Amino acid sequence: MTTVRLNPTDNVVSFDTDALVVGVHSGPDGLRAAPGAEGLDQALGGKLAATLNAMGVKGKAGETAKVPTFGALAAPLLLVVGLGDAPEGDYDAEPLRRAAGVATRALAGTARVALALPSASAEQAGALALGGLLGAYSFTAYRTGEQPAPVAELAVLSDAEGAEAAVERASTVAASVSLVRDLVNTPPSGLWPARFAEIAEQTAGEVGLSVEVLDETALKEGGYGGIVAVGQGSANPPRLVRLAYSHPEAAKTVAFVGKGITFDSGGLSIKPTSGMDWMKSDMGGAGAVFGALVAVARLGLKVNAIGYLCLAENMPSGTAQRPSDVFTSFAGKTVEVLDTDAEGRLVLIDGIARAGQDDPDLIVDVATLTGAQIVALGWRTAGVMANDDALREEVVAVAGEQGEAAWGMPLPEELRKGLDSPVADIANLHPERFGGMLTAGLFLKEFVPDGVKWAHIDTAGPAFNKGEPHGYTPKGGTGAITRTLIGIAERYSS
Ligand code: BES
Ligand code: MN
Ligand code: ZN
Repeated sequence: MTTVRLNPTDNVVSFDTDALVVGVHSGPDGLRAAPGAEGLDQALGGKLAATLNAMGVKGKAGETAKVPTFGALAAPLLLVVGLGDAPEGDYDAEPLRRAAGVATRALAGTARVALALPSASAEQAGALALGGLLGAYSFTAYRTGEQPAPVAELAVLSDAEGAEAAVERASTVAASVSLVRDLVNTPPSGLWPARFAEIAEQTAGEVGLSVEVLDETALKEGGYGGIVAVGQGSANPPRLVRLAYSHPEAAKTVAFVGKGITFDSGGLSIKPTSGMDWMKSDMGGAGAVFGALVAVARLGLKVNAIGYLCLAENMPSGTAQRPSDVFTSFAGKTVEVLDTDAEGRLVLIDGIARAGQDDPDLIVDVATLTGAQIVALGWRTAGVMANDDALREEVVAVAGEQGEAAWGMPLPEELRKGLDSPVADIANLHPERFGGMLTAGLFLKEFVPDGVKWAHIDTAGPAFNKGEPHGYTPKGGTGAITRTLIGIAERYSS
């Protein structure tokens, strides 16, 4: 894990590091240096702009150029990152996070990196630290032989008031996001429900969360029909993990519920071969809930926070649930399972109903729930639904503040009747493919305890990056929505 520290900006030229990172803007009159690198051009004999022009550098967001300094600076290497057009007013946090992440990704294998990027405020310094740390992430647990070392030490050059605390928070948040990425990237042979529960128990002990784990016997006895039904086809039985954090000065209680399918084969309604490997990421929601609870405890927020990890492996076998089977959920309602691949909603309803017992001010569930989310919103934007318009907009706003793309979606009442079952209280599949993200949301809504505000985040696309790395986002597990949940807990803190 990369360490981060804050340093003053007075000595950019003589700053002892292996690579110094500075920003450039594109613009009508050509390249323009971004704040943070004052005195640098002079030290380079006033030739930086001409050099960058000759190299074809345009200053576009995401662009990088490595420039040797030949002893003109203490740092042997200068990394120039594009920041796009200069902002009219203050720098927004997200472009800074992305630029810092682009820099640390480009500098993998460099031990010490210093960010001399715009950081006039604590928020900006925190954004640089977070983006830089997240860009330095790598997952090598399953590789043998020599690996390129990620950036070991990150220095953020800033004199902003309050920057120390912002950098500290960034480091806690980055540790949680990295933890979630590790869990998502871990193959299902290394992460099954009981193993996830064990990791949660151990980490909970380290950070001071209380933890309760229900195994398959306790789940059966407790009436968690959905988690039991989904897990019954696997040799690796299901678990429900409850993590709890409380603060004596807390006035509010937030409950988070995560879909934790450690592998989704589809069950007897089996998925096609192509893309099935992707379904190791189907525990990304539970990962985000776990990561958020860990961060809430480490940050010592003045809030009560409870997290439920609904863990099961969805497999076909002689003991698997069959299409047309009916189970009784924790809420007491019966569910007809028409498609065993619509399993996420079955584990979530038990977690959501159980969360009602904590008397929370709100419940937020997070799930890699539907392919329809990706059809509607693409790879990077999560869908947010709720039984309360203000809460939905609040969740979307918090996601935006944290730099996570999310968009509000409706729960149209007329789609509900498609979930009617001829034999049970409700069916888990809507006959209509269209609006699949919304019908999944409507299904969940039926199980929210009366009078409780609830929001649902469908993160099927954002949880896993199948494409190329970008900004501070690597290929594979992204840790998406972890930061949104932390942001919600912060907002509900006293
Ligand atoms: N885990 C999948 C959803 C998913 C798809 C997540 C792609 C990430 C990427 C979920 O359990 C699922 O299989 N959903 C079905 C629901 C359908 C059977 C109603 C889907 O979206 O096709
Ligand atoms: Mn499925
Ligand atoms: Zn699934």
